[in-house]
Parts: sequence; structure tokens; C-alpha cells
Amino acid sequence: MVGVYWQIYLFRQISLLRAAARSTFLLARKCRIARLGDLPGSAPAPILPRTGEPRTLNLAVVGAQWGDEGKGKIVDLLAPRFAVTVRYQGGPNAGHTVVFDGRTHALHHIPSGIFHEGVRCLVGPGTLIDPDRILAEIDGLQAGGLDLAHRLGLSARAHVILPVHLLLDSASEDDLGSSAIGTTRRGIGPAYASKAERWGVRLGDLGHRKCVEERFERALRCGLGERLRAMGEAEPDPSDIADRAAEWWQRLEVYTTDVVSEVHDALDAQQPILFEGAQGALLDIEHGTYPFVTSSSTLVGGICPSLGIPPKAVDHALGIFKAYATRVGAGPFPSEEMGQAGAALRENGKEFGTTTGRPRRCGWFDAVAARHAVRLNGLDAMVVTKFDVLAGFEAVRIAVAYEIDGERTTTFPATTTALARARPIFEDFPGWEMASAGASLDDIPANGRKYLDRLSELCRCPVAMLSVGPSREETIFMPDGMLT
Ligand code: GDP
Ligand code: IMO
Ligand code: MG
Repeated sequence: MVGVYWQIYLFRQISLLRAAARSTFLLARKCRIARLGDLPGSAPAPILPRTGEPRTLNLAVVGAQWGDEGKGKIVDLLAPRFAVTVRYQGGPNAGHTVVFDGRTHALHHIPSGIFHEGVRCLVGPGTLIDPDRILAEIDGLQAGGLDLAHRLGLSARAHVILPVHLLLDSASEDDLGSSAIGTTRRGIGPAYASKAERWGVRLGDLGHRKCVEERFERALRCGLGERLRAMGEAEPDPSDIADRAAEWWQRLEVYTTDVVSEVHDALDAQQPILFEGAQGALLDIEHGTYPFVTSSSTLVGGICPSLGIPPKAVDHALGIFKAYATRVGAGPFPSEEMGQAGAALRENGKEFGTTTGRPRRCGWFDAVAARHAVRLNGLDAMVVTKFDVLAGFEAVRIAVAYEIDGERTTTFPATTTALARARPIFEDFPGWEMASAGASLDDIPANGRKYLDRLSELCRCPVAMLSVGPSREETIFMPDGMLT
């Protein structure tokens, strides 16, 4: 009998000890996370894997403004430290530029890690694939000497942009006239809509003639036919679509894979993964400047549903910001500079769209919008790109607050109509000259450093890296250990 009591006593003691150990572990983890989110000036923990590190760290790299922040350059630069880079949303509306050895490469579907041997580049289920465009992209890279057979994997679950999607995108923009969104006309909105309406065709379906025909017949019956007729367009024949699908499949099958399983296998094997975002926080379908947004979730939070992985798989998040602001397409842009300064930013920064060639609208750095993006993404650090473009200005500005209907606010408004009424309140900074676009912090004059410090302070996020030119070498890793 005494033995039984002892057993119960011992069991209770062990349970208590285990509970205490667990809460100590959770507390320690919480402290570590709090430290990562600290204000600039403190010494944050490293966010990239180091040699011999016991646990690999996965990193999200996302656009934190209205797109075109320089994600392609940064992903290319960091990719050799990862086993896998994966695009998780968007499609060929993206245009990611990578510059090295004097050559410029524009990527639309393919992850920007593609130029590094040994890095597996995946295009996930939440993306859209335009078969003709991706084949042109593949051909272009192969003509340049890259062997993509083992490097590139496209999700069988990714939805396909069909010719009808392109037609619908353009028709809708034309119909909206002066209130058009200014989409890239790459069929993005209609393709995501057909996915939600459940008549979309996925990459893995292309090889199944009957499946493609049935999906399209269903679409025609459920309103697509009527819509096309109203537009004066002929109804496509499902059998013609199936023929095209078979041609695409012949060339794309070799790249088609189960991306979700590949990503989970990498997670199980503790291989580091880089998640490459497209577009930017302010173009997010939910949290951006709706309706002037794209049709996917561009935030770090979008990674998990798009790839089918749990939130704990994403260890850290890096937000890419231009040192000023740009936007392509319509929609409110409070810190936009319509005059000479805007034209100078456009000219110095060569601000013309990578995908459509459209001139980008330019303005000053908007710290209200940027702070919103830091919060939406839970950013651990920011990368500031195109810092060289600001050199030579007599004075530069940061929008530190908005005035809306006579009230000053630093909160990004919840409605686009309120944002359209926002007047920026600027803080002015004396300009600086940069002797060279070299990759050293010493090349940044004191005024430039002050501007950066203020920007980081306003965003409440440390700057981990500074980009001072389009090519790989024109990059400064801040000496705080986060990305070194
Ligand atoms: P992404 O869509 O975010 O990848 O950005 P884009 O490639 O569409 O646009 C960024 C443009 O700026 C590209 O032409 C890049 O080559 C260029 N770029 C990137 N970083 C820098 C930089 O630090 N300075 C300058 N001058 N250009 C840069
Ligand atoms: P990357 O990845 C900048 C914008 C379009 C338009 C809105 C909706 O290169 O940063 P869509 O074709 O997606 O339906 O257009 O979103 N847009 C981008 N702007 N960079 C991009 O991608 C963009 N992708 C879409 O201009 O205003
Ligand atoms: Mg771009």
C-alpha cells in the first residue's frame, strides 16, 4: 500500500517538474522573440542560418510598400544560404529584377534564387501560372545557359491563367475607364476569381483532357458564356482549350511537382527555406488599398495557407522598402510628388515597370504606411533599397503622419476613401552627396545616416541591409549581426 502512495507521490512530483520546465522554456522562447522585435539600436539576434547552427531558420522576404521595392535583388543575394526558395502567391504580374556580371534578368514566375546552383526553386500552389509566359521565361533562362531540369519545380496545384482570363482582365479595365485599377492585364484577378468559382484549371489538370473540357464547359454554363457574349466575344470551344492544354503539358510536365510535399520534406530535414513574396503589403487583397490592390495575400501570413505549412515554419521576416515610395497603377498615394521632385526620383531611380514598362508614380517615404506594413508582417528587420537614388537631392522628406479631415494621425486608415483624403505631414532632412555607390557604411554621409536612423525609428524596425545600386556588390550589410 505504501508503495502505491510513493508511486503517486513520485508521479505528481515529476508532472510538476515537467510543467515548470515547460513554462521556463516558453518564457525563454518569448524573451527571444521579444528581443528580435526590439527597437533599432539594440543588438538583435541573427536571422540567417550560420554554419554549424543546430536549427535552420526559414526566412520570408516580402515587399512592404506598393511592389517593386527590389525583392528580386535581395532574394538573389540571400538565396545561396538556403536550400529552397519558393514563390507563394501572385503570378506574372510580378517583375523581379536580378543584376549580376553586368547582365539584367527579369523574372516573372520563377523565384529569384534560380541563378544559384544547388538552390531548389519552387512555385507554390497559391500562385498563378501563365503557360505561354512561363515557357518563354524558361526558354530565356535556358538560352542563357541555365539547366532548369533539377532546379525548378512548379506546383501541380497552381492555377493556370487561360487566354480567357487575359481577355476578361482587359475588358474589365476598359469597362472601368477612368476608374480602372491599372492592373498589369496579366489575367490575375479573373484567374483567382475562377479559382474561387471552382472552374479554374490547375497545372496538374493540363494533362487530363476530359478534366479541362469539363471545367470549361461548367464555366460557360455558369455565366462565362453569357459574359463573353455580352462583350461581343465568341465562346471558346472547350475542345480547343483542351488541345492547347495538351501542348502546354507536353513541355511543363517535367517541371510539375508536389510542392507542398517538397516543402514539408525540407522542413523535416531542417533545410533552410526562403519564402519569396511578390507585390507588396499595400497591394494585399485584404489589408492593402482596396480595390486598388492585387488579388492575393502578399503578407507573411499569406505564406501558410498558400503553401500548406504551419505558421511556426516561418521563423523570420524581412521587409523590403525603397528609400522613397513608388506605385504603378491607380489608387491613393498620400506622399506622391507630382512635381519636379517626383520626376527626379523617377529619372534617378529608372522607375519604369519591369512587367509593363509603365512609368511608376513616385513620392517620398511614407512612414505611416511603412509602419502599417511592419505590423501586418511582423517584420524582424527592414532592407532599404535604392538609397543611392536619394543622393544629390538638396533636401529629402519623410511623411511622418497624415492629416485627415483636420485630425493628425499616424494610423493607416481602414478605408481607401479616408486614405484618399489624407494630407501628408512631412519632416524635412538636408540632402547628401555620395562619393561612390560602394558597399561600405563609411560611404554614407552623416545626413544620409540621420535619414536612415529616423526612418528606422518611425517604422520601429531595425535596418539590416542597405542597397545602393542594382547589382549584388552594391549592398551594405549593417554591422549588427542580423544578416552577416
Ligand atoms: P521587385 O519587383 O521588388 O523585385 O523590384 P523590381 O525589380 O520590379 O524593381 C526594382 C528596380 O530597382 C530594378 O530595376 C532593380 O534592378 C533596381 N534596384 C534594386 N535595388 C537597387 C538599388 O539599391 N539602387 C538602384 N539604383 N536600383 C536598384
Ligand atoms: P512585383 O512583385 C508593382 C499592381 C498593378 C495594379 C494592381 C493590380 O514586381 O513587386 P494585378 O495585375 O495584380 O491585378 O494589378 O497591382 N501590381 C504591381 N505593382 N509591382 C508588382 O509586382 C505588381 N503586381 C501587381 O500595377 O495597380
Ligand atoms: Mg517588380
